[in-house]
Amino acid sequence: MHISLIGLPGSGKSTIGRQLARVWKLQFVDTDHVIEQRLGCSIKDFFAAQGEAAFREVEAKVLVELLQEKTASVISTGGGAVLRPENRVALRAWSTVFYLQSLPEDIARRLRTDTSRPLMQGEDPLKRLRDLLQVRAPLYLETAHYVVDAARQNTAQVSRKICMQA
Ligand code: S3P
Repeated sequence: MHISLIGLPGSGKSTIGRQLARVWKLQFVDTDHVIEQRLGCSIKDFFAAQGEAAFREVEAKVLVELLQEKTASVISTGGGAVLRPENRVALRAWSTVFYLQSLPEDIARRLRTDTSRPLMQGEDPLKRLRDLLQVRAPLYLETAHYVVDAARQNTAQVSRKICMQA
């Protein structure tokens, strides 16, 4: 069975996923990275050229492919992977899903200098994160098998919590 990590952009899914994969001796897969390899360009550039809807199509395809892989892996998903109902169903069916429940304030601080995330650009990243969370919190909760309280914690602390829970 795969392990999937879901949560807001910047909640530490990739870093924590890599740490867990190392501990459990599993392969680590970052869906955003696979998508970028497939597109041959950055997600930011793809968003700018083709728009979010086209990105969501690719994201859904890649996610299902990764979940259907026979070899178990730790999968870090994009923050919007839960937006499509079919993704939510697939994640729950084919993986054990951990929601990294972070505070928008913590993430905004962490992402201060990040320019790679298309949905986080603009005047007020904290408001943006709060808005995203309002829409997505119910979807993250609906998809997760486990909710991990990641507020005010570093990635090593969160990894340790997940190891104890899994
Ligand atoms: C997105 C989050 C990004 C990436 C894309 C869209 C989102 O992944 O998939 O930019 O909708 O929240 P991270 O959560 O890894 O930043």
